[in-house]
Amino acid sequence: MECPTPCEGDHVKLTTTTASSSSEVHAAPPADRPRVQPLSIASPPSSTPARTTQCAVASAFAFALAALLTVGLAVAGSRTPPLEPRAAAAPRRVASMPAANATLTLLAHGSCSDQVKAQRFWKVVMGMAPQLFVYNGDIVYGDCTGPPCAELTSAWSTLFADEDFGWAVARLPMEGILDDHDYGMNDCSASNPYKGFAKSLFLHQFDVPSTDPRWSRPGLYHARIHGAPGRRLQLITLDTRWFRSEFKPTDCRGCPGRQRYVPYNISAGEGASATILGAAQWAWLRAELEKPADVRLLISTVQVLSSGHGWERWGMIPQEVTRLQRMIRETRAGGVVLLSGDRHSAGFYRTPGGDATDSAPYDLYEVTSSSLTHSFRLRADEEDEVDPLRIGRAIHENNFGTVSIDWAKRLITLRLLTSDDCGVSPQEWHRPCLAHNDVSGRDLANLTISIDDLQPRDEQR
Ligand SMILES: [Fe+2]
Repeated sequence: MECPTPCEGDHVKLTTTTASSSSEVHAAPPADRPRVQPLSIASPPSSTPARTTQCAVASAFAFALAALLTVGLAVAGSRTPPLEPRAAAAPRRVASMPAANATLTLLAHGSCSDQVKAQRFWKVVMGMAPQLFVYNGDIVYGDCTGPPCAELTSAWSTLFADEDFGWAVARLPMEGILDDHDYGMNDCSASNPYKGFAKSLFLHQFDVPSTDPRWSRPGLYHARIHGAPGRRLQLITLDTRWFRSEFKPTDCRGCPGRQRYVPYNISAGEGASATILGAAQWAWLRAELEKPADVRLLISTVQVLSSGHGWERWGMIPQEVTRLQRMIRETRAGGVVLLSGDRHSAGFYRTPGGDATDSAPYDLYEVTSSSLTHSFRLRADEEDEVDPLRIGRAIHENNFGTVSIDWAKRLITLRLLTSDDCGVSPQEWHRPCLAHNDVSGRDLANLTISIDDLQPRDEQR
């Protein structure tokens, strides 16, 4: 489909294709890949009910993982206490992060991966040879039914025991952030009693070093910069759950645009102190945006710009969207592109920049990639959500995204591709995919943006 009205910029080109069309980037799976043993993960906490227990954790490979799990169950708070970092000498079972001086030109990202569903899309992702994979939340589904949340531990065990995922995570650097289902509670916010346990479980799974600040501070937000000046890519990963206020429930559950929540009416005095990021994370984000970088991928689990639905999104606390746009303006942070997940559908979004104090100083783009394994599919008689900020159609095939950067031409290309054949053939919501004949990696849509257009206007070339 040709570029529709909302993206008729000189340097922005949108292409969408139907799932049945062929793609020139159908990456072949690696030939004769070795079949590896499932990789072990931290043992689950004891299921001993309602009392304090300590248990030593030993890995299935017997590589002497010596971390102790303190499984104290504070009945009043129903909290499952965090785990300790892995011993520094423990062998790593995940690929190391790219070096700080590495120039990154291709990343992949995705979200909402049900660990019990097939993970065969990793063959296609790996075939494209990205330098990093970013999870935009819901890496596993482990909603807790009560302490000590064996569901979450089991979910991670299942994922790391998956042959395809285990093969990929040992070779492809992966990072990301938790959303609600891997934080242990659907649509959770700051009051989630499982968040500390879920956080440390995540850090354990990905062998995050004990020196990483995420072990010692609330939340999982973090940032990294790769590359030399002129080719510096900054990844800013936001925690949109740890500090988040409650959203305002809808009075019309399931109604279009008001499915679960409605925005606070700020002018009526509602939600004046409500927050998405919380004070500490906002202060940290400002400091990150003030660092020099050429392209900044700002990663949020829930959608930031989207305005056409009543599910979770930043716009439920409208002043937080404005605050982000204003902060980008105040810090003169160029090169910001938003990545998100959560929705079980995918698409591109754009909100115009401008000279107003509360606007971003340039057009902001967001790509939502969701779901890797179980996207929401429209019924034949169902109309898609209307969102004035969306560019092109909403995508309901299972999908993952890529971000490629041509540093010489100063272009960023965002792509969405099918993650499995279940995203190609019609499947009903909540029905398992039975086909799995490796038809994946097909182009769904792409969007190319000039880095020069992502600069405060007085700095554009
Ligand atoms: Fe999800």
